[in-house]
Amino acid sequence: MRYTNWIDGDWVDAKSGEVSKSVSPADPSDVLGEFPRSGPEDVNTAVEAADRAFKEWSRMPAPKRGELLYRVAEVIRERKEELAQIMTREMGKVLNEARGDVQEAIDMGYYAAGEGRRLHGYVTPSELTLKACYAIRRPVGRVGLITPWNFPIAVPSWKIFPALIAGNTLIWKPATDTPRTAYEFARVFEEAGLPSGVFNLVFGSGSNVGVPLVDHPKVEMISFTGSTEVGRAIYERAARKLAHVHLEMGGKNPIVVMDDADLDLAVDGIVWSAFGTTGQRCTACSRLIVHEAVHDELIEKLVEETRALRLGNGLEPEVDVGPVINEPQLHKIHEYVEIGLQEGAKLLVGGERAAEGDLAKGSFYRPTIFVDVTSEMRIFQEEIFGPVLSVTQAKDYHEAIALANDTRYGLSSAIYTKNINTAMRAIENLEAGITYINYGTIGAEVHLPFGGVKETGNGGREAGQAAIDQYTEWKTVYVDYSGRLQKAQGIE
Ligand code: UN1
Repeated sequence: MRYTNWIDGDWVDAKSGEVSKSVSPADPSDVLGEFPRSGPEDVNTAVEAADRAFKEWSRMPAPKRGELLYRVAEVIRERKEELAQIMTREMGKVLNEARGDVQEAIDMGYYAAGEGRRLHGYVTPSELTLKACYAIRRPVGRVGLITPWNFPIAVPSWKIFPALIAGNTLIWKPATDTPRTAYEFARVFEEAGLPSGVFNLVFGSGSNVGVPLVDHPKVEMISFTGSTEVGRAIYERAARKLAHVHLEMGGKNPIVVMDDADLDLAVDGIVWSAFGTTGQRCTACSRLIVHEAVHDELIEKLVEETRALRLGNGLEPEVDVGPVINEPQLHKIHEYVEIGLQEGAKLLVGGERAAEGDLAKGSFYRPTIFVDVTSEMRIFQEEIFGPVLSVTQAKDYHEAIALANDTRYGLSSAIYTKNINTAMRAIENLEAGITYINYGTIGAEVHLPFGGVKETGNGGREAGQAAIDQYTEWKTVYVDYSGRLQKAQGIE
């Protein structure tokens, strides 16, 4: 089956006529379709369409836009199971997690729809009499969205819904590994009756679609989720035209386990955070920092639970861990395992491809745990984006926090402790955009700000109210109804 771009309300081929195939990482004989390899001309057509649609869409009262987005969320809810199945086939996460991914879009749809009746600005008194001052939100304009494969519906939904409720039109470049899921998601907006040109979908690579989108003079904002390396390049390019840039990038998220923690609870949270989604979340826990007094006991439980994880095709209900996204990523993960061994870390479990039986068809990698990891090691510092957990011991709280913060990233973080003082201090001390207490590092909810400090981001946040800030510009209004020239700042 051949799929096409969605531009100006029409389903159209790329100018190049070239296509690439999307296959399942669990079983490459499961083909999800052929997708256009678009280029700068297609981007241009999409941006022009978004530009034409902007006037009417931005003038539509926000509560009306909200009604439409509510309808979109309702269609996603009706098609939840179908979307989840396609996602599992295309990117591998187990079906239950794929359902969660779709649910996140439903949640964001309802949340953003409600914002149509808020989109609050503010009113303040003036320094002068007979003068009104207030600030209102205006859409940014045409926004370009570049999204990853690991949350092929949830992450796009965090960008698409807030962008639309605020009155922007958009051009979306989904990840090359998950075009079918993107196609199905876009179809929902069409089905719900979004006007032509408001939402444009352009398939293709970073260099052929992403770069022209970032460079296009009519695209006022870029929102990107992906690696820090690509995000930095986007930031630099978009700086030339002074565009708004919102970046969500890498993580090396720590869980700290103190000596007073509930160890069974911690083990469940660690396994879920490190190996859920096969470790392919930007929020995944990849560093575990354990108080030395409970290290051996915790590790014993952790290894046991990790060994019990069942690998396989995510469509099968008994499977806990699906494949990694593709072969190059599998090789990268394995290279990191070899680096860890060379650096002197001790491998306790995993560290190899899984290829018995049906697993031989796909890109499966065993959940992997290293102990005796030190902070200079690359496996402690670099984002692997796979099922690899590095464990380090700490002698006390201060050392644990210092280790947790010894990273260039700062997305998610967690601490397990029963001591309220320790927990509250950790909230202050952990350098991260998100801190969990007695929970793992994953599972953010859509109505709270999401994002990170240091090289994880560039200061913005998505989701929650913060998303509305991203996708709007302030307009300040002064209404002087005195009928005479009154000067501010006390000028006579
Ligand atoms: C991501 O990994 O890019 O908090 C997003 C979580 C999910 C979203 C992760 N709700 O893990």
